[in-house]
Amino acid sequence: SSGAYKYFCNGQWLESSSGKTVPVTNPSTLQKDYQVQACTQEEVNNVFAAAKAAQLSWAKTPLWKRAEYLHKVAVLMRQNAQPMADCLVKEIAKPAKDALTEVIRSADLIDYTAEEGLRSLGEGQLLTSDSFPGQPRNKLCLVSKVPLGVVLCIPPFNYPVNLAVSKLAPSLMAGNAVVLKPPSQGVVAGIHMLACFAAAGLPAGVVNVITGKGSEIGDFLTTHPAVNCISFTGGDTGISISHKAGMVPLQMELGGKDACIVCSDADLDLAASHIVKGGFSYSGQRCTAVKVVLAMQDIADELVAKVHAGVAKLSVGRPEDNADITPVVSEASANFIQGLVEDAREKGAQFLTEWRRENNLIAPVLLDHVTPDMRIAWEEPFGPVLPVLRVGSIDEAVHHCNSSNLGLQGCVFTRDINTAMRVSDAMQTGTVQVNAAPARGPDHFPFQGFRDSGIGSQGIKNSLAMMTKIKSTVINLD
Ligand code: G3H
Repeated sequence: SSGAYKYFCNGQWLESSSGKTVPVTNPSTLQKDYQVQACTQEEVNNVFAAAKAAQLSWAKTPLWKRAEYLHKVAVLMRQNAQPMADCLVKEIAKPAKDALTEVIRSADLIDYTAEEGLRSLGEGQLLTSDSFPGQPRNKLCLVSKVPLGVVLCIPPFNYPVNLAVSKLAPSLMAGNAVVLKPPSQGVVAGIHMLACFAAAGLPAGVVNVITGKGSEIGDFLTTHPAVNCISFTGGDTGISISHKAGMVPLQMELGGKDACIVCSDADLDLAASHIVKGGFSYSGQRCTAVKVVLAMQDIADELVAKVHAGVAKLSVGRPEDNADITPVVSEASANFIQGLVEDAREKGAQFLTEWRRENNLIAPVLLDHVTPDMRIAWEEPFGPVLPVLRVGSIDEAVHHCNSSNLGLQGCVFTRDINTAMRVSDAMQTGTVQVNAAPARGPDHFPFQGFRDSGIGSQGIKNSLAMMTKIKSTVINLD
């Protein structure tokens, strides 16, 4: 398997004994630019054994020292940002500029995590017994935060670096060892990223990366007895992981159908520009993309015209040229998107743009007069397709949003803070953005999904808390 990227176990870069590799298909050229190891179950066992052993002394490494390692990683990430970004362009067709931003954002996230971890993990609680009825004052309870053990980190293809780092950095800062299973596409960027952790000199076994087909090692990884926490971002796979996982905490983010409610009093230029950016950046392949516009009848014509004008300006082409719309990640994904669009056509949606597809490259699709019987009103295309539903009232819009099985984010455009707060209160989503498109960042903000969109909360502080468990020591005095 020479020429294939190696996996990383116990401080060593290794080739799999399977002798097999898994190719990565470039979404633009359809060339198989890279190969990674197809690791075996035995190699998964070895990685977990290494992580488990290394975690014991890592947990005893002083907090300041763990922070120092992470700051070193951040420096290395910035130094190596370009080659990592180049991988993102080739593996997932992310526009070159956005690819670089992803890496820099990740370095910033690591630094922030180190700083936040120093403060929040270095602080505990002291309780005295006499605040409970009838208790004497002889017991002191010291509450501290201790690591979980080994955290299995599974990021998605759309942010193979950033959503890996957002799991790795808090896990490590909190004293856990990690096993990273990168996505099939984005795996090489993930391996480069992990190389920065390795080069920062973290002790052997504290960080590991295992590669291979999800269908072959996925279940074996997620049900492995050495796993003490799973942090997963991705699609429906997360639901089956949650059914199979044992008694371990889960941090999950599984996509969204983020609605954008545009009220009659909204600034329509502002709304339109956010809808275009929110709907189409990275060709709609973001869990936080605007995935359905719910426009009040009285402003819908004007809003749609403005959105249409914005969509018409989007460039369609290659990620190397920083086109706005680039090929979607795979042929399967393009076929799925096409299926949603065909369903909308059959059911009478109005096409404001023409359907154009060349292999994985799909020109932006803006659909008006979408109705709730169409799949696109509910399903997540993860592609450059945006449906507009015209609604008669804010209540109807909120009802549509709350009827979805997904509840990640939502947004509302209005000039009235009272309307904004009423909508925010009524919308059952993890985050509601007022007068801006949904977004996860800045990365220290809490980020969570309701219903099938997730379990637990992310954001730097919440992830640090998630990667620890509470431990009490009670001192019983005479
Ligand atoms: O795809 C899911 C990501 O968490 C979205 O992050 O809002 O920064 O694009 P973003």
